Amino acid sequence: MNQGSVAGLADRLARFERVGLAHLPTPLEPLGRLTAQLGGPRLWVKREDCTGVGFGGNKLRKLDYVLPEAIEAEADTLVSGGVAQSNSQRQVAAAAAKLGLACHLVVYHGRLAAPPPDYETSGNALLNRLFGATLHAVDWSGDRNGPIEALAESLRSEGRRPYLVPYGVSSGLGAVGYASALLEIAQQSAALGFAPRAVVHCSGSGGTQAGLVVGAALALPETEIVGIDIDAEPERVEADVRRYGAEAAELLGVPFPEERVEVVAGHAGPAYGLPHAATLEAIGLAGRLEALVLDPVYSAKGLAGLIALVRAGRWSAADDIVFLHSGGTPTLFAYQKALAI
Ligand SMILES: Cc1ncc(COP(=O)(O)O)c(C=O)c1O
Repeated sequence: MNQGSVAGLADRLARFERVGLAHLPTPLEPLGRLTAQLGGPRLWVKREDCTGVGFGGNKLRKLDYVLPEAIEAEADTLVSGGVAQSNSQRQVAAAAAKLGLACHLVVYHGRLAAPPPDYETSGNALLNRLFGATLHAVDWSGDRNGPIEALAESLRSEGRRPYLVPYGVSSGLGAVGYASALLEIAQQSAALGFAPRAVVHCSGSGGTQAGLVVGAALALPETEIVGIDIDAEPERVEADVRRYGAEAAELLGVPFPEERVEVVAGHAGPAYGLPHAATLEAIGLAGRLEALVLDPVYSAKGLAGLIALVRAGRWSAADDIVFLHSGGTPTLFAYQKALAI
């Protein structure tokens, strides 16, 4: 099914260099017990939490396509940023360690009104230090990339050769990387004998969804890509998906499929980074039924959105739905007390 377009996407992606850090392809596995519990469509999981290096996650796939630019530019330092529990930052720090580059990270403070007790020290914050990154505290202003650019500039003035990795590793090239996840889903689902009716995942800085949307237009044209807003900013998320998607489509030499962008609001809980009852239910169901580890900021809110759509009857029992687990596992430890697990 659609083999021509699958090959077309594969050919287009093969023109891009990769650093080869991420462990790919990631598995596509059935979620039999969760399917039985919910009594709805057949559920599958694409294990983007299993990309390997430094606890894995979705940013490593983007970095695989983005970092050849850093190597080409003979950069000696990766510069990026995020909140203390940013998975993106932690994967940049891990990639820098593997590649033998220095890593400087802007750590935004104050985005969460009341962070849990271990927020600044455990989980990703611990791993950033373990991977040898230098951390620079900055107050959160809502400007995601400005302080990262300022840090890169100041390192440049000290004679370093910094390469700037944008917030969330979201850019046109990062989104191209995510089209490769869609290609794997197309190939793996065909081998397993099904065509996904939908791929559902959480969406934040937009690059993951942008790549999935562009890839699906080529290789899985009947498949819905459903992004669950976890930032409580659905309009901003949708605008960013469109921006990075259009850039990725241009890089891949295909039209951008505007009509395929769907960002679902209403599952972010009270605010970014604050788990709510549906988040806790998703973490519990995934753990008890499937031994899947979800995090309270991203992947659990994504699964909570999927569960809500299943319960609302969006799909039938004959449909196959892929949940893309985008990672975030270390954050669970920073939220241990808040989750009372
Ligand atoms: C675990 C996890 N899932 C999903 C996302 C969202 O991906 P994107 O920023 O590409 O929308 C992030 C981003 O930070 C993340 O850390």
